Amino acid sequence: MGIKFKITVLMISILVISGCSSNSTQPVDEANHSAMNKEDMEEMDHSAMNHDEMGNKHMNHDKMRNEHMSHDEVISLNDSTGENELKIPPILERDKGEGVEYTVRAQKGKTEIFDGTETNTYGYNGAFLGPVLRFSKGDTVKIRTINELDEETTFHWHGLEVPGDADGGPHDSLKPGEEKLIEFKVKQEASTLWFHPHPKGKTAEQVYNGLAGLIYIDDDHSKSLGLPNEYGKNDIPLIFQDRTFDEKRQLNYSAVKNDDGTVGDTLLINGTLNPKLTLKKEKVRLRLLNGSNARNYTFKLNTGDSFVQVATDGGFLNEPVTLKEMTLTPSERAEIVVDFSKIDSEKDLGLINEDGSILLPFEVSDQSGESSEVPGKMNDFSMTEEERNLPVTKEVELFGMMDQVTINGKKFDPERIDFTQEQGVTEVWEIYNKPDMMGGMIHPFHIHGTQFKILSRNGEEPPENERGWKDSISIQPDETVKIAIQFKNKGVYMFHCHILEHEDNGMMGQVKVE
Ligand code: C2O
Ligand code: CU
Ligand code: CU
Repeated sequence: MGIKFKITVLMISILVISGCSSNSTQPVDEANHSAMNKEDMEEMDHSAMNHDEMGNKHMNHDKMRNEHMSHDEVISLNDSTGENELKIPPILERDKGEGVEYTVRAQKGKTEIFDGTETNTYGYNGAFLGPVLRFSKGDTVKIRTINELDEETTFHWHGLEVPGDADGGPHDSLKPGEEKLIEFKVKQEASTLWFHPHPKGKTAEQVYNGLAGLIYIDDDHSKSLGLPNEYGKNDIPLIFQDRTFDEKRQLNYSAVKNDDGTVGDTLLINGTLNPKLTLKKEKVRLRLLNGSNARNYTFKLNTGDSFVQVATDGGFLNEPVTLKEMTLTPSERAEIVVDFSKIDSEKDLGLINEDGSILLPFEVSDQSGESSEVPGKMNDFSMTEEERNLPVTKEVELFGMMDQVTINGKKFDPERIDFTQEQGVTEVWEIYNKPDMMGGMIHPFHIHGTQFKILSRNGEEPPENERGWKDSISIQPDETVKIAIQFKNKGVYMFHCHILEHEDNGMMGQVKVE
């Protein structure tokens, strides 16, 4: 992210904070401009990028917090020291008895994130985060969802093509102690999806406290490809979440909440603080989920080596795409394969963020592993001429910031249906991120209950690693993205910005599929 962008973001924040109770389309007040001078902004940018001067960084961080000007692009992450082996979430076992039945409970618990301290957390079937739900294409799945929290929650299956009444949007709220049995048939292809709560106005806090888990779908085709698939050995789930811990090492959401997206200085991967990953000299598949409330990540190897991306949110790419870096905005997933037999493991290895912060150090043993492969052809995803020529039938305009966020000028109203679409009919939606006069920010846009295709970004073909099934897409300020979308099931589905605070603040609409 360029410095210019950061400055723009800061300036917008200042505008809003310095009393823009007025409508943001009004002319800029000169006084607001001078609320912070150029040196101040440069100093902040500098400090955010300078990793060695920890003291300095924290000073500015606090300064920003006090002035309520924190923004995800400004606070950088502390480097992982690599002192803890990465935790691998368990795979959820089926309930005893006939069929594919699972029980998923939302619970409170205590977790030793820091040695010797208990942090209050939320989790599914445990104290923190959740297990992996592993389904096969063709399964008829029944899930008993139980709310054991002291507050309302829902169980949303992000990326799963399920009927509206199983989708777990804000209409499906369960009170404390309530349970609900849902059932659906898995019809979509192999992919890495996830689940999290979706209660109205409370999604951000519940996810922040630990409610999130992965869903893997397998199919015969994915098993035949020969990709690394030993779970936890060379097929590694990675849930990236940034948090801020208070002096008592607690997650205190209301104290750190930022209406424009809550970011923290501490990265947890699969709930592990200061993680490292021990691997063999072999090809390793990393399934990355940006499970953060608001932070974007641009992943790179510290050696500058390339890797291949093999899957998007909802399935395999047709061919592996070779990359040196890859960005995921909140709720996006990608599967990448890194060939550790080809990388010099004498050097320090690690996954780093765009600004150089160390996310996940790798320790590669001398042992060679199994010989998996990355086939040249993995899928037959296509965009037909017919789809390309369809007229735009739905327009979505994302606008605003902080708690003044809207879609098509409106805030979420559970009583209002914004769009209707016919089941099984492909339509083209055009999504535009309207900048305000100070610039704007990226909004990650997500639609429930379906996987869609990106037709174009600002009229151009999407990049190669986006030519696959998606359910969440980043939209830059002033960018227009066209997607071809079809719903296989009926029901009412949400579409929204996946900066969770924006979602809670009403940057969400509903499409009724009938
Ligand atoms: Cu990750 Cu409305 O969803
Ligand atoms: Cu979703
Ligand atoms: Cu947003």
